[in-house]
Amino acid sequence: MPSASKSSRTDEVRKEVDGLSAKASTPDQLMDGITRLLHDKMLKYNWVGFYMLEPGSKPPVLVLGHFQGAMTPHTRIPLNQGICGAAASSGRTVVVDDVHSDPRYLACSIETKSEIVVPVFARGLVAGELDIDSHFPAAFSYEDRLLVEHCAQLVGKHLERP
Ligand code: SME
Repeated sequence: MPSASKSSRTDEVRKEVDGLSAKASTPDQLMDGITRLLHDKMLKYNWVGFYMLEPGSKPPVLVLGHFQGAMTPHTRIPLNQGICGAAASSGRTVVVDDVHSDPRYLACSIETKSEIVVPVFARGLVAGELDIDSHFPAAFSYEDRLLVEHCAQLVGKHLERP
């Protein structure tokens, strides 16, 4: 859609994510749908996946869940490693405009240039995170951040359902 501005694209995708959330009957269904939708519709989102904290693991570890894009060597990430570990341990969104200048970065694909990781909270605690890699430097604007944070919040709400 070449004429659409980036913010209208994020608004449109946000509405589609809301539709997925209303229809999903399990958190897994929603996470699968979100990875497919973001990967298909957001052209610079070249790898989209969830890492979830493994219940009961000590020390805690993030385990790769639903994802779209090339297989990654990082299927289990301790909280003291990677940009993924930094987002989960701090409970804060991490945006990295140039992954090669960030010493925390764990390489997934040689093509990756920038990355965003957003924690998923359920009942006030980090339950996992949504990780997106781009082949483009500084691909994640403020609008992107809001969209990805919205997706993470919807998953958190589903995880809180009884
Ligand atoms: N780059 C991440 C690892 C996950 S892969 O990108 C899919 C990190 O630094 O934690």
